[in-house]
Amino acid sequence: MKRIIVLIAAMAVFACSGKSNQSTNMTDKGITVKHYGTLANGDSVTSYTLKNAKGMEVEIIDLGGTIVRWTAPDKNGKFDDITLGVSDPKVYFGPARYLGALIGRFGNRIAKGKFSIDGTEYTLAKNNGPNSLHGGRSGFNAKIWNVETKGGSEPSLKLSLLSKDGDEGYPGNLNVEVIYTLSKDNSLKIDYKATTDKKTVINLTNHAYFNLKGEGNGDILDHELQMAAGKFLPVDAGLIPTGELKDVKGTPFDFLTSHKIGDKINETSDNQIKLGGGYDHCWVFDDASDKLKAVAKVYEPASGRTMEVFTTEPAVQFYTGNFLDGKAVGKTGKKYEYRYGFCLETQHFPDSPNQSAFPTTLLKPGETYHTTTVYKFGVK
Ligand code: GLA
Repeated sequence: MKRIIVLIAAMAVFACSGKSNQSTNMTDKGITVKHYGTLANGDSVTSYTLKNAKGMEVEIIDLGGTIVRWTAPDKNGKFDDITLGVSDPKVYFGPARYLGALIGRFGNRIAKGKFSIDGTEYTLAKNNGPNSLHGGRSGFNAKIWNVETKGGSEPSLKLSLLSKDGDEGYPGNLNVEVIYTLSKDNSLKIDYKATTDKKTVINLTNHAYFNLKGEGNGDILDHELQMAAGKFLPVDAGLIPTGELKDVKGTPFDFLTSHKIGDKINETSDNQIKLGGGYDHCWVFDDASDKLKAVAKVYEPASGRTMEVFTTEPAVQFYTGNFLDGKAVGKTGKKYEYRYGFCLETQHFPDSPNQSAFPTTLLKPGETYHTTTVYKFGVK
């Protein structure tokens, strides 16, 4: 009932885009809708392209709320697509899994696929060796979301999903809402909200892979990165945090001042670099507040493009595409090879449900989970 009331209220500002009108091209101001493809089970996938007055376009599909295309101008005003994505949605269940998708219920790893709440143990699917990764076998990246559009000079999409009690082993009926808003200043804001009817755990993020030279145009080692994070979480061989918060100073994990991602990525004399196969770790921001704060900056010298990240979250998984192996072929036919993209997945700490010293990821009935992350593009 509550959900129905919320939906009716939402319809006042967001136009419902039901399956019935998805075969025809519908254009809300700043939003173009089209058929994107068909899944193996016959489900149709629809894409929504948000466009602002500066010409930036962000294309998002209802499958996984996945960002499939994102254009940004370089220092000469030339637009390129700076995110990895594929044109056949079926490939998002294969080698392109997680590329650009919304991740839930729990982004990152939960050790042994188990956790307890108030003495009750919950068991999740183990889809990453002995651990559960990114919500399990069929996470939010694999679901078709409901989409409502809101056109205008700052067009937005509201995606919603009901993850039922027991979905992938997690307790509670979880109502999830994600709003993508493309702003006039070339930033994309992602607002995540959720409520539950039973205590559960939650850690939502987006898994966009960026390459500011353009998708498929080489590796990302020449991008320069700065992160406002003096500590990171060392991991074990299964990439589960050991519980230590380690100082980045004197390690290849120090991005307090901007330098090339590739500078120390292969320093396998550092055991953490070795375990991650490069960077695949969670950095903890110096500012632990849940205010929207500037946390990371990326600069790509050849194009002059910059990307700034702002978030209310306490941490970010910085992942350098160490598992990309050329099997995923991008939308323009280019292979996504080793380290052709990097991710800055804002989030709470991995394995928090099993590590009581980490900030809590528990969501209780009556509470609203709400986090915001902004990716802003510019040139230098
Ligand atoms: C996250 C993980 C990586 C990898 C990717 C998906 O970033 O930390 O280890 O699993 O997702 O390929």
